[in-house]
Amino acid sequence: MSEGSKKTEVSLEDITSLCKRRGFIFQGSEVYGGLSGTWDYGPLGVVLKKNLMNLWWQTFVEERDDIFGVDASILMNPKVWQASGHVDTFTDPLVECSNCKSRFREDHIDKSKCPTCGTKNSFGDPRQFNMMFKTNVGPVQNEDNISFLRPETAQGIFTNYKNVVDTLYPDVPFGIAQQGKAFRNEISPRDFVFRSREFEQMEIEYFIHSEGWEKHFEKWRTDIKSFLKESGVNIDSLHELEVPDDELAHYSKRTIDYEFEYPHGKDELLGLAYRTDFDLMNIQNSSGKKMEYRPKDGGEAFVPHVIEPSFGVERLVMAVLVSAYSKDEQNGEERIFLKLPEHIAPVKFCVSPLLKNKPELVAKAKEVYKALKEKHGAIMWDDNGNIGKRYRRQDEIGTPYCVVVDFDTLEDGTVTVRDRDTTEQTRRKPEEL
Ligand code: GAP
Repeated sequence: MSEGSKKTEVSLEDITSLCKRRGFIFQGSEVYGGLSGTWDYGPLGVVLKKNLMNLWWQTFVEERDDIFGVDASILMNPKVWQASGHVDTFTDPLVECSNCKSRFREDHIDKSKCPTCGTKNSFGDPRQFNMMFKTNVGPVQNEDNISFLRPETAQGIFTNYKNVVDTLYPDVPFGIAQQGKAFRNEISPRDFVFRSREFEQMEIEYFIHSEGWEKHFEKWRTDIKSFLKESGVNIDSLHELEVPDDELAHYSKRTIDYEFEYPHGKDELLGLAYRTDFDLMNIQNSSGKKMEYRPKDGGEAFVPHVIEPSFGVERLVMAVLVSAYSKDEQNGEERIFLKLPEHIAPVKFCVSPLLKNKPELVAKAKEVYKALKEKHGAIMWDDNGNIGKRYRRQDEIGTPYCVVVDFDTLEDGTVTVRDRDTTEQTRRKPEEL
């Protein structure tokens, strides 16, 4: 029986090693020695990530009448990044050690000593390093066809604002949502997937009239918190950091950074910003096309302002894993288990025969497996090792229930259902599951 599971201290190593050994997340291009800042999702990780992304889409797009989805190209006309300010200002301060030539982001290190070679005072003045990945569009490589891999999904929303208004005629306030890849050539990717060079974002631009922006901002604070709770993020480890006025981006009137207590420290999980009409005005000025919204009641036309909740998928996956990571003691042995919410867990039920060398048990278990798979989809078959080992494996990937077919099943049709969190076992009819 469970001897109690209190909130567990979890290190970055606990999370990375569980992700690797159980098939959640692997180093990108690992077989060739990896590629810094890139990560691959394995069979369980991809389902966990999709479950979180689908929950976001369902919560903010499908269940609402005022938010619409788009899926814009990753490659965009370079004018997008000129107008948005990314070409000129999307930079981080880079310093280089004069001895070993290692490069770092200035605010990530103690500059008095090089973290690589240990040389003292080897860093000069920082230079600004633009984080966008450059590429050439088309077969000729010259200055005229340079574009960038998008560093945020937001600009693909702004550039489609007019298309959505002209095709759906939504009433303001309304939002446009997008999920997808973003790329940043981070100077020093680190802390597992937290700071990657390729990652996914889930962003909404919520278009409003500037009057009354405060009430929309407050509503977003409530909606963000309830989504994070639903995702399995431990709300006690979440902190709202009100960005002080003198640190706000020049286009923002108010920003809250949502920080989570990650194993490497308290750090940003997502941001909520009131971006005013900065982006639509930039597009209007540089494209020459009007971004005005004309109210259907004949009211005065205006360029909408924007509230932007911006989620990073990798940081959400990590916060959910850290929140779920638990340890307790079972029969004098330490047990690791992921207390994931049922709707987020990659596997809902694991089915196995008590003994794999008894054909009648295997046949019955296959029947139960098939029926559950038809009903729930995310079902795993596991007949490797003894039953205790199977339970441990399923605990570590967060499977809420293990179903075991034994000799009693052949008599009365009931199976053993073992609960991940309590480890309690009950006998149930498979069709009740
Ligand atoms: N459109 C606004 C925007 O992109 P941001 O604060 O630069 O704002 C938003 O990024 C979110 O994207 C962050 O809160 C974080 O969750 C995620 N993110 C940013 N850089 C990241 C990186 N290098 N690796 C993983 N996630 C990142």
